[in-house]
This record gives sequence, C-alpha cells and structure tokens, in this order.
Amino acid sequence: MSKRKFIKNTLLSSAFLLSACTVKASAKLFAFKKNEENLSSPKLNNKLNNKTGATMPFELPKLPYEKNALAPHISENTMNFHYGKHHQAYVTNLNNLVAGTDLAEKSLEEVIKISHADKTKAGIFNNSAQVWNHTFYWNSMKPNGGGKPSGEVLQKIEADFGSYENFVTEFKNAGATQFGSGWAWLVLEDGKLKITKTGNAETPLTTNATPLMTMDVWEHAYYLDYQNARPTYMDTFLNHLVNWDFVSENLK
Ligand SMILES: [Fe+2]
Repeated sequence: MSKRKFIKNTLLSSAFLLSACTVKASAKLFAFKKNEENLSSPKLNNKLNNKTGATMPFELPKLPYEKNALAPHISENTMNFHYGKHHQAYVTNLNNLVAGTDLAEKSLEEVIKISHADKTKAGIFNNSAQVWNHTFYWNSMKPNGGGKPSGEVLQKIEADFGSYENFVTEFKNAGATQFGSGWAWLVLEDGKLKITKTGNAETPLTTNATPLMTMDVWEHAYYLDYQNARPTYMDTFLNHLVNWDFVSENLK
C-alpha cells in the first residue's frame, strides 16, 4: 500500500480520527518527515501536524488508547501527569512562543527544524520537539505490547544487531547511559537499524535518521510507578509495551 493510500485509508476509516479533529499519531505521521511533498493537502497537513488553524495553532493529540490502558506497567496516574500535564504544557508553551510569528503558520516538523537551526529559538525548539517526541512515544507503546517481534521487523533486527537479545542489551544500554533527561531511539539510517540516545528535547528529526520508536527516559516517565528504578521501567517497556506494529509501519 502506498504511503498516500495508507494515510487516506487511515483517515477515512476511523471515526475516532474524524471526530477528534486532532492527530491520530499513526506511523505515517512520523514517516512522512522526509516526504512532505506528500502532505500537499493543507487540511491533511494540519491534521498530521496537530494544527487547528485557530489562534492556538498546535493541539495536544489524542492518545491512541485510554489513559489506563497501559496499566499496570504505566499507571493512569503517570498518564495524567505525563500526558495531561507535561505534554500539554509543551503544547501550551509552544503556542505562546509562536503566537504572532511566522512559525505559527508552519507545520510542527518545520518549526522543529527551523528552531533547531537558530540557537536564538531554543525555547521554541525545546517545546516543539517535546510535543513531537511525546506523540511519537505514546505511539511507540500499546497495551499487551513488547516482547520479541516477528516477521520482517525481527528479521531486520537479527540482520542488523545479530540477535533480538543483542538489540535488547544495546537499547537498554542507551537508556541507562543517557545521563539526566532524554530519549532512547530505534532509528533507520542508511538502510540499517541503529540505536541512538538524545538529551533533553533533542530528536532524530533533525538528523538523517528516520525514527522508528522511542522510549522516554525523563524521570517524569517512570518516577510515579518505578521511583528511581529506570532499569525496571526499561525492562517493562521492552517486555510489555513496545508497539512493534508501529515500528513495522515506520519501516515501510
Ligand atoms: Fe516525557
């Protein structure tokens, strides 16, 4: 299925999407980062970039599941703070920072790239990238996810990491060695799977790599459920939460 057809089918077939008027943060939302010519429809472009066209151009995307759907691994309490407070705050801050500027008319991904290249816009970069990173994170998880993937994703992992076990070790190492706040990522770069980590709001969107999935290792992602036990949170993420379907779609 072509990317354009996938987007069209996804949007048309989901009453949830049509009623929400916000982004269904599907795989293609993120996979389109290097193919923005495919986003020729302003209406579709706005959906994919959380834009409403109103005076507050960016919206908090709806979650792809209920706030209690990841429990007991990630509690509703964590979701209320992480999604309802932190993610919402990034959206609110971004809208305040771009209000009345040309950036208010840009897509979220354009704002991220423009502000990343202009160090006087660090606040705009931090908030816009965190809006995008968090939407990507929610979609990197699903209820009853995790464990060893199958099919083409597993084949690709085994080809590029040697084994699924090697992937697990390397991914957890990236999360464990990200000092302070940040993210661990599975990305595709030069046709190969790679694991990267970024600090604070940094995102692979500003690099040549295509993000496939991410794990938030800011303390606010796990502290209410796991206190300071980041390794336990990372084990849980890999064993029970990873949305391999999302990875598979991003690989296409
Ligand atoms: Fe976070």
